[in-house]
Amino acid sequence: MKTIAILSTAGGAGRTTLTAALAMLLARRGRPVVAVDFDPQNLLGAHLGLDELPPAGIGAAITSDAPWHAHTWSNEEGVLFVPYGEMPDAPDGALASLPPTTLRLAEEPDWLARSLGGIDLPGQGVVLIDTPRYPSMHAAQALRCADLVVCVTPPEPGALATLVRHLPKLRAAGKRPLFVLNRLNPAREMQRDALSMLTAALGRGVAPVMRLHADAALPEAFARGSWLFDDAPYSQTSHDLHGLASAVEEQLAALDESSRVPGAELK
Ligand SMILES: Nc1ncnc2c1ncn2[C@@H]1O[C@H](COP(=O)(O)OP(=O)(O)OP(=O)(O)O)[C@@H](O)[C@H]1O
Ligand SMILES: [Mg+2]
Repeated sequence: MKTIAILSTAGGAGRTTLTAALAMLLARRGRPVVAVDFDPQNLLGAHLGLDELPPAGIGAAITSDAPWHAHTWSNEEGVLFVPYGEMPDAPDGALASLPPTTLRLAEEPDWLARSLGGIDLPGQGVVLIDTPRYPSMHAAQALRCADLVVCVTPPEPGALATLVRHLPKLRAAGKRPLFVLNRLNPAREMQRDALSMLTAALGRGVAPVMRLHADAALPEAFARGSWLFDDAPYSQTSHDLHGLASAVEEQLAALDESSRVPGAELK
């Protein structure tokens, strides 16, 4: 079993969309898949086919250690979903202090790793984790327990500058992220420059930056409760999503290989 964290240093980058799409595509390729919503926004379930925001999930367990396994749900294609659940608003007067979940996650940096340790998937199984924006306690927990990190960013100068600023920390985690430039519109020169800037900042020895083109049909498919790669299988963005799933498969195979051959490096 391998764990994949979907991270970004910008909000609205496409983490939840990608987590859901990868969960579906990897499941269709025959892998047992668990999709974990580790973002208090609690939205991943809507992408996976739930009609309502799930009231309970792993979020409440952070402070109470309550069992969350009873709140999981399987979608029609067999993706097992772990919701975050709805959390109560902070009481008036407590707004200046850190939420109890953040404090607990700061106290126990391996809380998520320990909690997901109980998931019993076969060797080919993958656990995908959706996160809030990095840096945050929730995202840091996902980064710590991940075998593979998918780092998604919009092709905008501000978002890229933020990502480059956090690169040393992401690299220090030793996970060699797979980078995805999302909502790409190659007709815009600034976005082509953004791709060159990111490629230069990453330097040599990293997997090529993956591209996911902008397509208004992606949110429309979500709104209809369907998948872009089913509604428009020959579109550029569907092709990109399949390409991303293949790149993830390659990285997982490289991880398997490096664990078999002592001293082998992840390519
Ligand atoms: N390639 C794309 N083309 C067009 N729209 C996209 C694309 N990728 C994502 N979107 C849209 O961008 C919006 C933000 O995506 P999403 O919610 O997945 O991002 P996020 O990183 O999870 O955001 P948040 O910071 O709120 O958690 C959504 O409306 C989604 O449908
Ligand atoms: Mg999200």
